[in-house]
Amino acid sequence: MQHVFRRGTSAKKPVLLLLHGTGGTEHDLLSLAELVDSEASVLSVRGNVLENGLPRFFKRLAEGVFDEQDLVFRTKELKEFLTQAAIDHQFDPSNIVAIGYSNGANIAASLLFHYADAVKGAILHHPMVPIRNVPMPDLTGIHVWIGAGANDPICTQEESVELKDLLEEAGASVGIHWEHAGHQLTTAEVKVAKSRYEQIFR
Ligand code: MLT
Repeated sequence: MQHVFRRGTSAKKPVLLLLHGTGGTEHDLLSLAELVDSEASVLSVRGNVLENGLPRFFKRLAEGVFDEQDLVFRTKELKEFLTQAAIDHQFDPSNIVAIGYSNGANIAASLLFHYADAVKGAILHHPMVPIRNVPMPDLTGIHVWIGAGANDPICTQEESVELKDLLEEAGASVGIHWEHAGHQLTTAEVKVAKSRYEQIFR
């Protein structure tokens, strides 16, 4: 997959896996990662699917309606990419924390729904429930932080809470933070994510 890898100054820090929103690229979230942890290595990936020329991580049938077959295929593709990237760039594949926004948060959530060992934590900005009625892996020991917008028309309050509940039922530790905003990613939300990241992963 097309990506940027930047080695951090501290090998002990997690590798931040950056996953952009629809229409983004692997360059979008680099400044966000710098803000969250300037010493961590960064692996920023571009989604392999194009929707009217806009990169995404998996196909959708309509706004908020996912092509589940493609979602499962693309999730596996990303998991395999992570395994290979860890070899190529020589980092510990058990030390990855995903940071995703919107469509990127949804593929990160899908990694959690399908694999116990893809990431050790995730910061999900405005995620949805990626898929329903699948057996989930044991997520004990995995930390997830959800940033949600109280007025987000795409990721509703109900769905954000449903996602939290599903991840918790699978054993993950999940925190949810509400911004009085819509679907946009605000600096205020990133600052809260940073402080949670520092408590959990440093
Ligand atoms: C998605 O398709 O993943 C969600 O609707 C979020 C978006 O990308 O608009």
